[in-house]
Amino acid sequence: MTLASSQPPDQGDDWPRIIQGGMGVGVSHWPLAHAVSAAGQLGVVSGTALDQILVRRLQDGDPGGHVRRALDHFPSRPLADRIWRQFHVPGGKGATASYPALPLYTVPMDRDAEALCVVANFVEVWLARERHGRPVGINYLEKIQIPHLPSFYGAMLAGVDYVLMGAGIPLKVPGALDLLARHEPASYPLVVTGALPGEPYVTTFTPRDVLPHDLPPLARPRFLAIVASATLAATLAKRASGHVDGFIVEGPTAGGHNAPPRGRLQLDASGQPVYGERDRVDLAAVRDLGRPFWLAGGRGRAGALREALAAGAVGVQVGTAFAYCDESGLRDDYKQAVLADVRRGAARVSTDAVASPTGFPFKVVHTAGSVSEPDVYAARPRICDLGYLREVYRQPDGGLGYRCAAEPASLYAAKGGTVEDTVGRKCLCNALVSSGGHPQVRAGRHVEPGIVTSGDALLDLASFLPPGTSRYTAADVVRVLLEG
Ligand SMILES: Cc1cc2nc3c(=O)[nH]c(=O)nc-3n(C[C@H](O)[C@H](O)[C@H](O)COP(=O)(O)O)c2cc1C
Repeated sequence: MTLASSQPPDQGDDWPRIIQGGMGVGVSHWPLAHAVSAAGQLGVVSGTALDQILVRRLQDGDPGGHVRRALDHFPSRPLADRIWRQFHVPGGKGATASYPALPLYTVPMDRDAEALCVVANFVEVWLARERHGRPVGINYLEKIQIPHLPSFYGAMLAGVDYVLMGAGIPLKVPGALDLLARHEPASYPLVVTGALPGEPYVTTFTPRDVLPHDLPPLARPRFLAIVASATLAATLAKRASGHVDGFIVEGPTAGGHNAPPRGRLQLDASGQPVYGERDRVDLAAVRDLGRPFWLAGGRGRAGALREALAAGAVGVQVGTAFAYCDESGLRDDYKQAVLADVRRGAARVSTDAVASPTGFPFKVVHTAGSVSEPDVYAARPRICDLGYLREVYRQPDGGLGYRCAAEPASLYAAKGGTVEDTVGRKCLCNALVSSGGHPQVRAGRHVEPGIVTSGDALLDLASFLPPGTSRYTAADVVRVLLEG
């Protein structure tokens, strides 16, 4: 088993200049993170829905034998082999067959689901770290709380060097990492809609339930919180359950989910959230916290690193520029279609205030065949069968219920939700898993359409595409950013 080499927090000058941002689902898969880390910067795998991705890779026959190679290094051979036997289809499942349905997460988490999470996170990080010996990170969305603890543990078993987290307030993550590094049980507080004051809803995880034998202590990864305000950074620095090693300061131009604007949500004429002065991050206040920080959002261009260093940051985090390089996991048809639009100066991104069931604004690229297009979206029946973004709510008897604003409106309403809340919501779970190259196929012929997300600065990608070229690599991005 690989143990990460770690330095005490805040010591040493080995912070990366460039962090390749985590991009779910499966866009920053292990080949991308591997390429970025091998190029001397920090590659970050997405930790979102990794159980689903592992199962679908196995169902596709494990092309290249990568999953098998990683499984051979998992600390429990019986568990690794069990998962292999359960899901691997020699030669692949075939284009018209469906992927199997996994049970949706509930609290407490099913023991098999926990084990699958541990193994899936291990595999992704192990492959991203293979051979080059450089640090690798993993990114999670705080909002997807139920699988956090087994996911951290699996990533740590593979020696992950950094855990990065956005889309929420990760106050309790650092302490959980400390406990898991010692293989001790940990708990994580759960946001439950309608919970009564003082009701302590938590998820718990006991590493011994998955790996019942003694293991040496694990290296505690550095923890970087992704924030959109100096206030949140200060709160985390003061009140987190353990050490926060640094901050990624992300603005509303970044790809993926964005923090909502402060104050009452206002939309412009095209329905996009309006950000103002109050949303500008006070970088002097972040600097005063004395922790390393990186700037994210529109930094994927020559010169941006120099500007960030001048502002006191140690570097930049970049997503969009890496999402379209050869090594990214974004489906090639979408990649090529968007790059063709970039070359013609016609690529279009907007911020959809309602698409995401999380309620956070979500950046959407308008590209043919994806659910960003009204006709494609309207033709898809509302189905919720992955459930990562489900909201946990308190039922009248104190038990927990689960609902998603993108599920059928009548079902959502029957669970206490309001029909207005369902309007315009998209099943990001299925759409993002589809864009990551593993679309579900229903009844032998209905293929789940995808969705593409990118930052506002999508047109900047033209600088990576000199005339006559239609592709570029992660190393090209790193080179351009460092040269600038
Ligand atoms: C395709 C894509 C998917 C993303 N997914 C996530 C995610 O799952 N979690 C996250 O914290 N950030 C996510 N992001 C944000 C990136 O990690 C990064 O912070 C952001 O892209 C930086 O801004 P830029 O897109 O202007 O370079 C995503 C960005 C893109 C482009």
